[in-house]
Amino acid sequence: MEIVILDDAQAIGRLAADQVCTLLARKPDAVLGLATGSSPLPVYDELVRRHQAGEVTFGQARAFTLDEYVGLAAGHPERYRNVIDREFTGRVDLDPSRVAGPDGLARDVPAACAAYERAITDAGGVDLQILGIGTDGHIAFNEPGSSLASRTRIKTLTHQTRVDNARFFGGDVDAVPTHCLTQGLATIMAARHVLLVATGQGKAQAVHELAEGAVSALWPATVLQHHPHVSILVDEAAASRLQLVGYYRETYLAKPAWQGL
Ligand code: F6R
Repeated sequence: MEIVILDDAQAIGRLAADQVCTLLARKPDAVLGLATGSSPLPVYDELVRRHQAGEVTFGQARAFTLDEYVGLAAGHPERYRNVIDREFTGRVDLDPSRVAGPDGLARDVPAACAAYERAITDAGGVDLQILGIGTDGHIAFNEPGSSLASRTRIKTLTHQTRVDNARFFGGDVDAVPTHCLTQGLATIMAARHVLLVATGQGKAQAVHELAEGAVSALWPATVLQHHPHVSILVDEAAASRLQLVGYYRETYLAKPAWQGL
């Protein structure tokens, strides 16, 4: 697990975009794992900018989103499949048929979740998974108490997550769905490289637990301590509760240029 502390969200966006571009240069048909929410937006904006500048193409890439609210109508602006299209995939040359998400309107939920797992596997697995983290330590919508071995399934959102996400629903917490379909922690752990971005004081405790806390279902992101290739990009505020912050800075400064993330 590598922790990189950067000045601001834009610097995080640039470094994360570097990783995506390096991957696509090596493997044009790479499989990207995409998070929604605010944290990855600077990454997506930077990738769109580079795409418009002719520096990167997504023409052969594929993408899988992490999660989806249950019950939001197909045209709802906050349905994650629509959000990712608006924020990223619809702004680059990624064919919509090559972007998939869990089906939050499925009648047979277990079958839809199993089909999503199969689709990821059939695509060869996720090469690079972009993640955010919730204030309660969730990744995707694996809320505290999630099985560390979980796969795509239905989950109940915590009240805290619904309060956090009410800003996308006009501030109305009751408008935030109570349930979601989400990739499980084991699904995320199968990605070959995990790149987690977090900014702001509100994420400081979760980032500390993720990197330095005991591995526990209480802080689901801690499962990433068992992953061999995780990069955590944070700003100063999100890094403010890290115990070994000096060591992380020294390590990154002294890193050989050839190594990348
Ligand atoms: C969204 C997702 C969530 C968010 C998390 C942080 O697809 O999987 O885990 O990454 O809730 O959200 P933001 O970035 O909005 O603070």
